[in-house]
Amino acid sequence: MDGKRSNPAKHRVGESSAADRKTMDRRRFLAGAGLAGAAVAGAIPVRAQTLAKPDPAITEVPDWSRYLGDGVAARPYGSPSSFEKHVVRRDVEWLTASRESSVNFTPLHELDGIITPSGLCFERHHGGIAEIDPAQHRLMINGLVEKPMVFTLEDLKRFPNRMNRVYFLECAANSGMEWRGAQLNGCQYTHGMVHNVMYTGISLKSVLDQAGIRPNAKWLLVEGADSAGMTRSIPIEKALKDCMVVWGMNGEALRPEQGYPLRIVVPGWEGNMWVKWLRRIEVGDQPWQHREETSKYTDLLENGTSRRFTFVMDAKSVVTNPSPQAPLKHKGPNVMTGLAWSGRGTVTRVDVSIDGGKNWHTARLDGPVLPMSLTRFYFDIDWNGQEMLVQSRAFDSTGYVQPTKEELRKIRGVNSIYHNNGIQTWFVHKNGETENVEVS
Ligand code: MTE
Ligand code: CO
Repeated sequence: MDGKRSNPAKHRVGESSAADRKTMDRRRFLAGAGLAGAAVAGAIPVRAQTLAKPDPAITEVPDWSRYLGDGVAARPYGSPSSFEKHVVRRDVEWLTASRESSVNFTPLHELDGIITPSGLCFERHHGGIAEIDPAQHRLMINGLVEKPMVFTLEDLKRFPNRMNRVYFLECAANSGMEWRGAQLNGCQYTHGMVHNVMYTGISLKSVLDQAGIRPNAKWLLVEGADSAGMTRSIPIEKALKDCMVVWGMNGEALRPEQGYPLRIVVPGWEGNMWVKWLRRIEVGDQPWQHREETSKYTDLLENGTSRRFTFVMDAKSVVTNPSPQAPLKHKGPNVMTGLAWSGRGTVTRVDVSIDGGKNWHTARLDGPVLPMSLTRFYFDIDWNGQEMLVQSRAFDSTGYVQPTKEELRKIRGVNSIYHNNGIQTWFVHKNGETENVEVS
């Protein structure tokens, strides 16, 4: 896999040392590189080629223009062009002990717009993909309710007030390998535990209302039907505010990887709480303190104590192009692009730097800018082949500004593997090759 470095064993979670860090001295870089030629472009005319000799791509008739193509019966469920075979989720073999309790990553550098195609949404599961027969699947509500209830999928689909919402899901462990220094070479690996999907379903509140929650209800336990039987506690305020019970993603049924036939959506909060293959909701008066919210998915601090719950995913962004898997190929006009998101609201602004954070330029947001959704940004440059230290920083509707990794480490230390939303730096070499570094 592309992201692997020379000595994989050295780079397991929590084992990389300070010496492993790829740190660039920002001042030295600035002194040496000289950014005079790095024009921040307004409107750059892209120069068309003048043809010195006949181009066979124009003068020869290709096979696809000579022969009939597949008919309508050949592809009842479409898939991407065979020339797009490299656009796939990828995993890092040495990262986890088994493939069933593991993760793969969204190829962010190959995507555009804000919606993640269903087949490319990263997967994180603790006990493999459950293959559930929807006719046999039930959702049970019990605990502190007036009337414990069991719903079939068909029951849920007959609820009024069906709704569609676009939300990002980010695993708390996204960028977790980068706490101690730059490590994985590719935004797919450093930031690819995020996806952005339009969900179809109903509000969790409408399901709870059917059962009638008791006045002393304070927390919910949501449980999956996979072999991991994942459980998480969710505060009742959040559950009633904007959580959803969903069966649809991007206009069709959930994919098995994403929890077919039913999952819970917890907008803006860490992905681990978005229980897939949802089969039970228990209403209680306190959190359950299960494994996934105690020994895992809590933030270990420098002094050995842990933050109890860190539900919300703070504002974060990354330049996806250029990045190590998507180097710059042309001098002159280039479109830099990336993604920004915030679990606290809407992305209001994204800045891009090409000199390691010394100067910032406001990027252009394009496409829908929705709360708790990925937001696309573009930054057009005229690149004369000079070295660049490319960064982005996100601002959100609460006034929060994405911190540098240094700022983050001052407060959080480097023991955690969760909630790393520090600013990412890519070093673009003169030949356009790009690598994961840090600036100091
Ligand atoms: N739900 C169940 N039942 N089992 C799981 O292993 N993994 C969780 C969460 N829900 C998990 C689960 C974690 S850690 C994350 S980050 C998200 O699902 C990943 O969602 P995805 O596979 O759609 O990307
Ligand atoms: Co996760």
